[in-house]
Amino acid sequence: MVKVVLKDVYKSFKQKKKIVEVLKGVNLEVQDGKFTVILAPSGEGKTTLIRVIAGLERQEKGDVYIGDKLVNDTPPKDRNLAMVFQNYAIYPFMNVYDNIAFPLKLMRKNKDEIAKRVKDVAKMLEIDQLLDRKPNQLSGGQRQRVAIARALIKGTNLLLLDEPLSNLDAQLRTLARAQLKELQEKLKITIAYVTHDQTEAMVLADNVAILHNGKIEAFDSPLNVYRKPRDTWVAGFIGNPPMNLIDGELLDEKTFKFNGYKVKIPASVSKRLKVKKGPAILGIRPEDVKIGEGDIKGVIKFIEPLGSQTLLHLLIGKNELNVMVFQMHTIELNKEVDLNFYSDNLVFFDKKSGEIIEN
Ligand SMILES: Nc1ncnc2c1ncn2[C@@H]1O[C@H](COP(=O)(O)OP(=O)(O)OP(=O)(O)O)[C@@H](O)[C@H]1O
Ligand SMILES: [Mg+2]
Repeated sequence: MVKVVLKDVYKSFKQKKKIVEVLKGVNLEVQDGKFTVILAPSGEGKTTLIRVIAGLERQEKGDVYIGDKLVNDTPPKDRNLAMVFQNYAIYPFMNVYDNIAFPLKLMRKNKDEIAKRVKDVAKMLEIDQLLDRKPNQLSGGQRQRVAIARALIKGTNLLLLDEPLSNLDAQLRTLARAQLKELQEKLKITIAYVTHDQTEAMVLADNVAILHNGKIEAFDSPLNVYRKPRDTWVAGFIGNPPMNLIDGELLDEKTFKFNGYKVKIPASVSKRLKVKKGPAILGIRPEDVKIGEGDIKGVIKFIEPLGSQTLLHLLIGKNELNVMVFQMHTIELNKEVDLNFYSDNLVFFDKKSGEIIEN
């Protein structure tokens, strides 16, 4: 078993004459036997981060540990990890068997051992019926599993995955995601997985690390990242649509005032509040807004039927609000509706720093 620790890692690139700082003091622990997802929008440095762990890029500053060993000067091949790249390349001219066997052939293992290990790993990934096929005779999901099989065959306990599902269509992605999660639970290997897809992060991760502006902005379980985002940036990044953020003022621990309205704060929320008075931002998820009763008035400006749910865009005076409802009836455009924010899931943020004001 193996963990990965990054301490204050910096990495920049020279682009023409400009220096682009990508990682600006990354601190991260990829825990032993856990599925850690590093989540960030495109271009934030996800691939760079994973390449630094793999040893394919050298950081300018900071330390990388794998297990308890400092690996700054350890070449990639000696880091005892496996990596599946963003555009996982499997060799088109080799059949599945030879693709998976390739790393062992490079290590000059004997034929019988190779055959056994290919069979084992192929069985585990349920591609043992496909060993004779060429990659162009496989579906995208099967190809992805071949890439993972090839990464796992050396028997390492640390797997780095760079958006391995991005080439798959939506349906296949859901399936492949479930298989990957199952595989990790079965093998208990340590996985660091980077993606820009937050659904993927929520579904797969034991821990989510959000990379933003070259640093890990948040590190927590998917539920906590969703329920208790550490600041307004995370609140606005996670969730589709993201958390509603409403500017106002805490009058006391029971009341939040905005736009002429007084919002009653449930006791379960107020007992968590670290600060009980002053300018603040109320955060509420679209599914936590209750429609049909309450003294807040909103006007429905836009309706998006999403199938099982319907997303409403409302205006409360000048405040825009996203609301997720599960039933379509009584919803009409430009209609005024009553609503309330009475929810155990309310959170409050400091207006100045944007940080959550909860214990
Ligand atoms: N070898 C390189 N030379 C110069 N600049 C680079 C190099 N590799 C990455 N960069 C720059 O570093 C930044 C981060 O790139 P990176 O590929 O790590 O992002 P990413 O989060 O993986 O993006 P994506 O989601 O699109 O894959 C980008 O601005 C990119 O242009
Ligand atoms: Mg990338």
